[in-house]
Parts: sequence; C-alpha cells; structure tokens
Amino acid sequence: PSFAFVVPAAGVGARMQSDKPKQYIQLGDKTVLEHTINKLKATIPNALIIVAISENDAYFPDLTLPDNVITVLGGKERADSVLNALNYLTTNHLVDWVLVHDAARPLVLPSDIRTLISHCQSRHCGGILASKVRDTIKQGSEFVEATVPREALWQAQTPQMFLLNDLTAALTNALNENVVITDEASAIEWAGGKVQLVSSRADNIKLTTPDDIAIAEFLIAKQIL
Ligand code: CTP
Ligand code: MG
Repeated sequence: PSFAFVVPAAGVGARMQSDKPKQYIQLGDKTVLEHTINKLKATIPNALIIVAISENDAYFPDLTLPDNVITVLGGKERADSVLNALNYLTTNHLVDWVLVHDAARPLVLPSDIRTLISHCQSRHCGGILASKVRDTIKQGSEFVEATVPREALWQAQTPQMFLLNDLTAALTNALNENVVITDEASAIEWAGGKVQLVSSRADNIKLTTPDDIAIAEFLIAKQIL
C-alpha cells in the first residue's frame, strides 16, 4: 500500500494577526511550513507531499524543501484546498492512503504519525490523531448551563488518514450538500464511515493565535528528529 501526504497551507491565518500567513512565520531556524514538511518527510522519506497554496502566495518559492513536494492551488475553505489536492492525486498518482496534515501543526512527532499509520493499516480503517480533553468542560454562554462529562471527549488533531477514494467521495458529496466540514473525519462521519481515535501527544497544537508562537518555538527547539 502506498501513501501520500496532503498539507493544506492556503489559509490567511486571520486569528494570528501576523504580517504574513502563519505557515510562513519563522520558528527558530525554519518557517512553520518547513518544519511541518520535515516532520512528514522524516516519517516516510519517499512519500509524495502535496501542498495546497493560495494563488496569492508570495512566500512559498523562498522555502527550502525536499524534492518530493508538489504544489496545487488552494480553495476558499480548508476542505476545498484538501479536495484540490485529492483530485490531483486521483488523476496523477497511484496511492491507496492519504494523510492530511495542517501546515500549522509543526510540532507533530513522526512516532505519533507512525502509530496512526499502523492502526489504520492493520484494521483497514481510517483514523485521526487526537488527545483526550483535560480540562473540566462547561457549556453555556454568559453563565454555566452544564458541566459536560469529559470521559468521551477528544480534541481532533492531524494527520487524519483515510483511503484516497473514500475521502474524495465523502468530501465531494459533503461539499455539494453544503455540510459544514471542519476536518476530514467530519466528512467521513457524515458519509457513515468509521474513524478510529488514535491517542497523540497533546502538544501537537495547531498554531492559531499569537500566544501559540512562543510555545511552539520552545517545543520545536527541544525536539530531536
Ligand atoms: N487552509 C487552507 N485553505 C483554506 C483555509 C485554510 O489550506 N482556504 C489551511 C491553513 O493554511 C492551515 C489549515 O488549513 O494550515 C488549518 O486551518 P486554520 O488553522 O483555520 O488556518 P487559517 O484559515 O489560515 O487561519 P484563520 O482561520 O485564523 O484565518
Ligand atoms: Mg481557518
């Protein structure tokens, strides 16, 4: 069985309030996107890495990247960017599985990605990295309406790994039906498919707001690939 990585990197990063999209922020000696791609390359050195970038992108050409990286154009929403990459894979390459990983998650560990891959392959079932919710969870707006039992609650991360054909069909149909899709798994769930929860480190965070940068700089400096 063969694999490809899909990296949606076509967002503007509005919540980061940075002068450039967050995937191009410098984290120590490399940009966020370079760190992310290095993690995927370290996991499966010869796998294709399809990066979806914005048509207005001015930063991608300056990156230093391995030669198994290919770009496609991103779309309006994250799901559109992912689907563009999946369609490219379907027409041009024979791969069974795709692992979709956010450009903005440079802290993921290759060992966690390998665990996801082995779970998906051995059970022949798609899955996602996720971490169990740690805090007590409150429901409400101005006042607490309820304390939600957290035993069965997980925070979804990426990579999210599915068979290329399954994910392409689910995303295409969900987008056609205007279903709200925030990750690949939600499209698969909507289509009635199974998704395994594979426990991952909680520090595989998605860089979202300015206070995430200092944490990411600290953690990436400590990681040894
Ligand atoms: N993404 C994408 N295409 C889009 C929107 C997002 O490829 N049309 C990518 C982002 O570049 C990011 C990942 O999807 O790597 C996760 O999305 P998010 O964290 O929401 O990033 P942004 O949309 O860029 O940030 P914001 O929502 O704050 O604007
Ligand atoms: Mg977004």
